[in-house]
Amino acid sequence: MVVTTVAKVKVAYVCGDCGSDFPKWQGRCDDCGAWNTLSEFRTGNVGAKKSGSQFKGYAGSLSEVQTLGDIDLTNVPRLSSGVEEFDRVLGGGMVPGSAILIGGHPGAGKSTLLLQVLCRMAKSQSALYVTGEESLQQVAMRAQRLSLPMDSLQMLSETSVEAICAVAENQHPKLIVIDSIQVVRQEDVQSAPGSVAQVRECAAYLIRYAKLTNTILILVGHVTKDGSLAGPKVLEHMIDCSVMLESSTDNRYRTLRGVKNRFGAVNEIGVFAMTEKGLREVKNPSAIFLSRATEPAAGSVVMVVWEGTRPILIELQALVDDSQFGNPRRLAVGVDQNRLSMLLAVLHRHGGIQVGDQDVFVNVVGGVKVMETSADLTQLLAIVSSLRDRPLASDLVVFGEVGLSGEIRPVPSGQERLNSAVKHGFKRAIVPQANVPKNGIKGMEIVGVSTLAAALAAVE
Ligand code: TYD
Ligand code: MG
Repeated sequence: MVVTTVAKVKVAYVCGDCGSDFPKWQGRCDDCGAWNTLSEFRTGNVGAKKSGSQFKGYAGSLSEVQTLGDIDLTNVPRLSSGVEEFDRVLGGGMVPGSAILIGGHPGAGKSTLLLQVLCRMAKSQSALYVTGEESLQQVAMRAQRLSLPMDSLQMLSETSVEAICAVAENQHPKLIVIDSIQVVRQEDVQSAPGSVAQVRECAAYLIRYAKLTNTILILVGHVTKDGSLAGPKVLEHMIDCSVMLESSTDNRYRTLRGVKNRFGAVNEIGVFAMTEKGLREVKNPSAIFLSRATEPAAGSVVMVVWEGTRPILIELQALVDDSQFGNPRRLAVGVDQNRLSMLLAVLHRHGGIQVGDQDVFVNVVGGVKVMETSADLTQLLAIVSSLRDRPLASDLVVFGEVGLSGEIRPVPSGQERLNSAVKHGFKRAIVPQANVPKNGIKGMEIVGVSTLAAALAAVE
């Protein structure tokens, strides 16, 4: 069969912020609205046209088709990093052949965390740490200062992905860290390191290597000012796990948060403290988020949020104050701002409490972000407590979702949340009626509520 191929190099313009591509250059990205972020991107030969059936002429070797049951599952052990919090966020360890992206602001502690993890792991597994940002001396000095075992970890200072993979082929490491994806480059790609084209191609190149050789690949990625990874969309679909290292407001604690995980739950968090000896695991995060003043304060309520596979107790604060200007402010830190506006409307309509002329501020202590709706009821009770300047009992926990008709809806894992609250010494709880355990919980007085009015009556 005669196959005619027309080799064409395709030129596209790719937005550096969101990764969308356009056939022509334009000043503003239509997708994310960013200005002057489009840059030229050349892809390889595309559009090879074939005569006759497109598919029958395939000349390569054909892959075998299997049913799910036939697939060999015996050799997928997870590799433990030796750091429990890190393993938990990754769903219980690292899967061979997987690509993991660790994102965070510069100075969040990504290099420190990985250096600590790798130095320990290198004793039992061969591991390669590729540093493109810091010199080998800088990394070695840090390892020495942190008293890490230094004799087994293999180090490489290199920014070319071809060279990195060639070295890796010789060394056969089980695990490779690339610090960071923004400084590596591939020879064929014209644009500068850190650009979308480079990041995309380099990541694809490295991931291909990792999949072929069953190596664990950890990529470090910096986030941009607004908190998104440079070229986030282009990496998101390629990698298996994406985790973020975020620092809290007081800069002492770092939370490692799962964003995407093909092998486990997301929204799992691991908590670390940054000390002069590097990052230290915090085994009981509730203790730091609950460092409350001894005197009960108005507007402060403790909730139990479900993070991935475990409950965490977190304090939420609200401040309600007379508004100085015509337009009262609603400010939410750590919870969704739009949801706060909605809850205030529910409070007015179904609770009969008016805050239209008040500024309302809500803050989650410790710089944690709560994405769950279980914080709804907590927010409303904190707001009411601040408005009335009446503190709630300091041994009270509150959680529950609030619906638009003023009903209190149940949240998942109610019993586990309550158990964890009891363990931390809480003696009272206001929770959705449907979350009240049938047999109660020893040592805890649980008030089940099904409407907002009932919840407000419970704190009268
Ligand atoms: P680093 O791992 O270099 O951050 P990243 O790779 O994410 O950019 O972290 C550096 C920060 O951590 C720096 O601001 C200082 C702080 N730090 C400590 O407080 N103690 C330590 O032992 C180390 C190594 C760093
Ligand atoms: Mg670094």
